Amino acid sequence: MAIISDNEEISKNQGSLGKKNPVVKPENIEYDKTFENSIRPKDFDSYIGQTSLKETLKITLEAAKLRDKPLDHMLFYGPPGLGKTTVAGVIAAQMGVEIRITSAPALERPRDIIGILMSLKGGEILFIDEIHRLNKVAEEILYPAMEDFTLDMTTGKSQTAKTLRIPIPKFTLIGATTKAGELSSPLRDRFGIIHRLEFYTVEELSQVVKRTAQILDINITEEGAKAIAKRSRGTPRIANRLVKRVSDFALVKFDGIIDAKVANESLDILKIDEFGLDNTDRALLNLIIEKYDGGPVGIETIAAALSEDVRTIEDVCEPYLLQAGLLQRTPRGRKVSPEGYRHLGIKVPSEQQSLF
Ligand code: ADE
Repeated sequence: MAIISDNEEISKNQGSLGKKNPVVKPENIEYDKTFENSIRPKDFDSYIGQTSLKETLKITLEAAKLRDKPLDHMLFYGPPGLGKTTVAGVIAAQMGVEIRITSAPALERPRDIIGILMSLKGGEILFIDEIHRLNKVAEEILYPAMEDFTLDMTTGKSQTAKTLRIPIPKFTLIGATTKAGELSSPLRDRFGIIHRLEFYTVEELSQVVKRTAQILDINITEEGAKAIAKRSRGTPRIANRLVKRVSDFALVKFDGIIDAKVANESLDILKIDEFGLDNTDRALLNLIIEKYDGGPVGIETIAAALSEDVRTIEDVCEPYLLQAGLLQRTPRGRKVSPEGYRHLGIKVPSEQQSLF
């Protein structure tokens, strides 16, 4: 199974100076993809967690193989770093087909999506990340492609216009998004399987940490793995990054073995607390408490005060703060919960306490 990533192709074509597109948007920066790819599991046995998704998929894949039919289109949603791309890669490997990876912002012009659809081979998987950001034209090209495996092209103008139906190979679209609610309903309705990826438990993350450490030849104890898992915000991508960071500390400052003490001391130095919160998360909670009496306050105001992008706050910081019960979303804005106050060691105001 080969993974062909459009983003890789774009960067190759642009060279190191990025001549075609000198402004590199944050969404186009592929953070540490080589590292991520090197440790991605390729089968369901080595893919840890997401048990219900794995069970559903095993049956779906088996049925598609028995029927000799392509898989239904699938939509995976949930916070970043929970393994949406990884699952898609496992599916492709298990079906013995290629996966073409791209993301909605890279499909700006109609010819981008048409080009990809026409280059697919039968049974292949097209993975579109951030699919909620697909523009209307690209979406409309996708509808007949998903439903009937055709491209409907219009030639000529007004009265003389004709629609050509061009058949394309039967493929499977896997869409991934952090914001399922922003998908239009016609697009959402065309997915046969829609599944939300859940945050991982500490036990599952410990297994991810141990697996990664083994692949990277890093020495780690059971307690060391658990200490990293506890501060990984339920997210394997974070756990994997922390393994690497902590192993640097273990090598330089300690005796090379990651045990609980080494892990905890390293993560303290990295300013990642026992809940896995970093400086930005704590700044967000502090801001709401100190400047807005604990909230509610609007997301734009928070983002502006922290000099952060609204999307980063919504997609990266908030999901875990909400899940951990430190922050609450109300119709009038975000509020810090009593747990959030306690976590920062700040006394919960009495009027807050009575509201909860
Ligand atoms: N690396 C990232 N996600 C993973 C998972 N779910 N299982 C194993 N390794 C992973």
